[in-house]
Amino acid sequence: MLVLGIDTSCDETAAAVLSDGRTILSSIVASQAIHAQFGGVVPEYASRAHMQLIVPIVTQALEKAGIGYGQIDAIAVTNRPGLVGCLLVGVSFAKALAYSLDVPIVGVDHIEGHVFASQLAQPDLRLPAVCLIASGGHTELIRVDAWGEYETLGRTRDDAAGEAFDKVGKMLGMTYPAGPEIEQKGRGGNPAAFAFPRAMMQRGNLDFSFSGLKTAVRYKLGDMGAVPRDDELRDFLASFQAAVVEALVTKTMWAAVENGVPTVMLGGGVAANGALRAHLAEEGARLGVEVVIPPREFCTDNGAIIAAVGNALLTRGQRDGLELGVSASREKAARPF
Ligand code: KG4
Ligand code: ZN
Repeated sequence: MLVLGIDTSCDETAAAVLSDGRTILSSIVASQAIHAQFGGVVPEYASRAHMQLIVPIVTQALEKAGIGYGQIDAIAVTNRPGLVGCLLVGVSFAKALAYSLDVPIVGVDHIEGHVFASQLAQPDLRLPAVCLIASGGHTELIRVDAWGEYETLGRTRDDAAGEAFDKVGKMLGMTYPAGPEIEQKGRGGNPAAFAFPRAMMQRGNLDFSFSGLKTAVRYKLGDMGAVPRDDELRDFLASFQAAVVEALVTKTMWAAVENGVPTVMLGGGVAANGALRAHLAEEGARLGVEVVIPPREFCTDNGAIIAAVGNALLTRGQRDGLELGVSASREKAARPF
């Protein structure tokens, strides 16, 4: 079965072709450059860019996969959560294509897509598992009992981990999204040089909070009088990154140990961060928990993870009709349109 996966939930226009739920024949991602100058995603610009990009990106995905439109067996499209105007572009396009090709369409939860990055990376991983999703919009610990059976164990009370990277980057004059630049410019810095706070660290508390850290960074910058440079900047960024990574890793491992699960999985854009990947792997080895870390390109938004969820839903007999709606949140039912 060839599934076309489409994601337009935020500022990436992504399409991929997945064969039999396993083999990625192509995965094309266009990151919209327009938002860099604004320090964050401007929803209206994002929807407009999706409209311009959706046809060329899907065409490229099919070309790279070496197939024509007629060979698509089903279409999976992110319909929640995300920016509503952005989701509408992907879902409308997917519906029109499904109708014209007379193939099934299935709406996918973007967060479940991030969970499936680990399944794509390691199809035989042992469940139950605890999955840490850390992205620009979400930070969640999810217990995965089976593919499709989830329980949220903890989530952020305020900012998402990626949002903390992006907001701190903005304070330092970096362009959006700042995560990769913070990682790169902090490389080799001393993570203990600045004492930034780790919030809600009572054992057993699986929720996160990053707004206090953001405020601490703002105050520290105020005290310093100017944006740090060279070695000081390196230490500053390494210290900030260490505060985020420590909170994420500690709580993920608490969740794994308390739930007695054999496996921890990682997903979401922040999972591309080298310090997070290394620290989680180290802690897994120390505690005897298997850690599954997908390749970076499947941590950040892409169409392959959406196609993978779609494939699993379709295999279970699930599908949607042309009334498929969109929703800004995971919990609220999608409103048909
Ligand atoms: O999952 P994603 O691609 O989009 C959302 O669904 O939000 O995540 C994007 C987020 C951004 O906040 C970005 O700054 C962050 O992931 N990110 C990183 C790194 N690469 C991307 N954060 C830290 N280190 C990185 N290397
Ligand atoms: Zn995402």
